[in-house]
Formats: sequence, C-alpha cells, structure tokens
Amino acid sequence: MGKVIIIANWKMNPLSLTEAKRIFTDTKKTAQTLRNVQSVVCPPFIYVNELKSLVSGRRCLIGAQDVFFERNGAYTGEISAAMLAKAGIKYVIVGHSEKRTFGETDEVVNKKTLAALKEGLHVVLCVGERERDEHALYFDFIRRELEHALKGVPKNLTHKLLIAYEPIWAIGREAKSADTPAGTFETTLFIRKILAERYDKKMAMNMPILYGGSVNKKNAREFLVHGGVQGLLVGRASLTPAHFAEILKEADRP
Ligand code: 13P
Repeated sequence: MGKVIIIANWKMNPLSLTEAKRIFTDTKKTAQTLRNVQSVVCPPFIYVNELKSLVSGRRCLIGAQDVFFERNGAYTGEISAAMLAKAGIKYVIVGHSEKRTFGETDEVVNKKTLAALKEGLHVVLCVGERERDEHALYFDFIRRELEHALKGVPKNLTHKLLIAYEPIWAIGREAKSADTPAGTFETTLFIRKILAERYDKKMAMNMPILYGGSVNKKNAREFLVHGGVQGLLVGRASLTPAHFAEILKEADRP
C-alpha cells in the first residue's frame, strides 16, 4: 500500500502572504513527522513560489490549483504545465467544480489533464455530481465527466493520475453535509469499473481515489477506512492548521 494522500485546497485564501506562510509553516510541522501520509498544499498561484521555498523534505509539498493546456504564448493570465514543472511543482488539481461553474468545459478539463500528465505532473482530476438523484442518474454524470477528461490519455501516462471524487452538494459552507463513507465507497467502485473498461483491471484497482467535500477531523478517518479511498481533498479545514493537523494525524494511523 502506498501512502495516504492528503491534499489541502486553499482555494482563494488566505488574503496575505504572511498568513499563507503561517498556515503552511504550521501545517508542515505536523506533516513532516508523519510516515504514512503524503501531504500536498495547494495555495493560490501568487503564493506558490514563496511557499515552495519553505518546503523541506518530501512529506509536505506545494501543488497548484489549476494549469493551462498550452505551453507558452499569448494566453493572458494563464500558467502552463511546463512552468509548473520548471518551478518544481509536482501536483496540480484539474477540473475542480468551482472552475467548472465558471465555464470550464469537459473539453478544457481533458486538454489540461493531458498537458499536465505529459509534463510529468501528478494530476488530481476532480469529478462529482451536482445532485445525488434517487434514480442514480448521477452515475451517468460521473461516467461522462471521467470519459471526457480521459479522452486520448494513454495508459502509460495514467501512473501520475489521481481521481478526486467531490460531490458538489457536499462541498463548502453551503453544503448539506459530507457524503457518507458508504456512498463514497459505491462511487469508487463505479469509478474503478469505468477505469477497468477503459484501461484494465489492475490499473483500475491501483488508481488512487480521493474523497473531497466537507472533510473534517471527525469524518476523515471514516472515509479512509470505509470509503474505499486512498486520500482526501480538503478545503475549509485545511486553512486552520490545528484542525488540518488532526486530519493528517488520523490519516497517519495504521
Ligand atoms: P470543503 O472541504 O470546504 O467542503 O471543500 C472541498 C473542496 O472543494 C476541496 O477541493
């Protein structure tokens, strides 16, 4: 078994570099001591370099929240996979629902996934339904998202891929609640089935799947033990170092 992967998605927080440094330094203190956890903190781009310079060792890395699919050129406001790789960034989140809400299409998610994988980055590909309907149509939605995102992605590039299952209804302050570990477990089976159809069974079984959506110190362990996932993608709770440290420690327990 590989390490448990805990990814902090800070989203558009905090407001200052000073605060960002404080949160990262605190988080790193705990993360560095854990043998069974790979931690990755994804801050806003403007803090990436500065926080990267605070990294020591490999247990707590800096990642990015997004990437553009072209390599360089006239693309105002964008940052390419090659730039991230050259800056020493190893993980990038792609297809987060908050980007999709503001117009990121399946086609763009696909291009970003391919570009980042080709550059050798670990891609944390986010999928998840807006609603969990009682007829289970949400499975079709997840299938479509996955199939679109992985169009043209050859098997030899998938060893750096991670899938994050983030049901949109479970994300953020307005969320009804987190998913249940049983609900997530069912979805991971479904995701693995799609991967097995598309690639093969071994690849599908080995693919790290993460759960995200209202993860906190109380439910983190349940998802890791009963949710069929190998890691967590944490939003709000990752901004409070003491809280996030509890999640990291729960993940480290054998
Ligand atoms: P919350 O943990 O704040 O619900 O956010 C989840 C998320 O979107 C992580 O990418």
